[in-house]
Amino acid sequence: TRSEMEQRVRKIKEALGDKLFIPGHHYQKDEVIQFADSVGDSLQLAQVAAANKEAEHIVFCGVHFMAETADMLTTDEQTVYLPDMRAGCSMADMADIYQTEEAWIELQKLFGDTMIPLTYVNSTAAIKAFTGRNGGACVTSSNAKKMVKWAFTQKERLFFLPDQHLGRNTAYELDIPLEQMAVWNPVIGGLEYEGNLEDIKVILWKGHCSVHQGFTVSNVNEVRKKYPEMTIIVHPECCREVVEVSDLNGSTKYIVDTINAAPVGSSFAIGTEMNLVKRIIAENPDKYIISLNENMCPCLTMNRIDLPHLLWALEMIEEGAQGNIIKVAPEVTKEAILSLDRMLALA
Ligand code: 13P
Ligand code: SF4
Repeated sequence: TRSEMEQRVRKIKEALGDKLFIPGHHYQKDEVIQFADSVGDSLQLAQVAAANKEAEHIVFCGVHFMAETADMLTTDEQTVYLPDMRAGCSMADMADIYQTEEAWIELQKLFGDTMIPLTYVNSTAAIKAFTGRNGGACVTSSNAKKMVKWAFTQKERLFFLPDQHLGRNTAYELDIPLEQMAVWNPVIGGLEYEGNLEDIKVILWKGHCSVHQGFTVSNVNEVRKKYPEMTIIVHPECCREVVEVSDLNGSTKYIVDTINAAPVGSSFAIGTEMNLVKRIIAENPDKYIISLNENMCPCLTMNRIDLPHLLWALEMIEEGAQGNIIKVAPEVTKEAILSLDRMLALA
């Protein structure tokens, strides 16, 4: 039963003490989050993984790229596990390393040495390595502006991947006009752009998050009509048009902190993943909160991590079995860490 499983998890956690560390992303289910030692957005979880030196076993409750990042930021004595190996991120999978290398070669033919890659942490370790060896850095939704500003101190142009929306929203808020942004389409292996090439400042990889792309301008219009007082707060993985007509946008941590800090009686419509929206609603009974789109599905890959998988991963550790370990190849880590360190130094 559920309560037996919960008891088993508690017992193993107690027995392992500081040797075990469980980071949990905000999008995880409540049944998992209740056992997390640290809950946060991608940046926070990368930072806590880097800071933790005592845990031998890090059971990452989140998706594959987050566990890879944790592995690269921890020591060789520490092991990172992902309770379900199928917990990927469809956005991270939209940029594979071969397409990326090919794009870089083609773009260099057009723009020479004027570009710097900036890579959202929602990407494979191989893409982070590509970024590191070409002088670029990682970004998360909570430091994207800072990193884009930094990138423009290095080169004239950005190659931002894999999320076109975070790239476009961030550049736009830094006053770069949409006309100066082009899209790299990895399927056709070419640029989608109609102006003069010299004007391009930002090249956006044509990737997206299918969860966040599901929020629409008509969702916003409906909420505005029904609840004119409501504050609409969305994640910057939503498209430009939605962010434009919303009131606020930011990382999962920003969304949580903003709503927690709002006065009693405030009302919000949230455009992000359902597990988090439901938790925010439960934790803020003094506010009126709805999802920007009540029909939105949760992130299916985040949802793969559930109580049975968490327990199974912990039991494996207890028995000394070697399973579900996330280990990035040393040659990849060596270059990827350059891009992560450039971000963490500025964050
Ligand atoms: P945050 O860094 O804002 O937590 O976002 C991670 C993510 O996967 C959003 O879809
Ligand atoms: Fe990836 Fe979107 Fe899920 Fe975040 S919500 S993990 S970007 S698929």
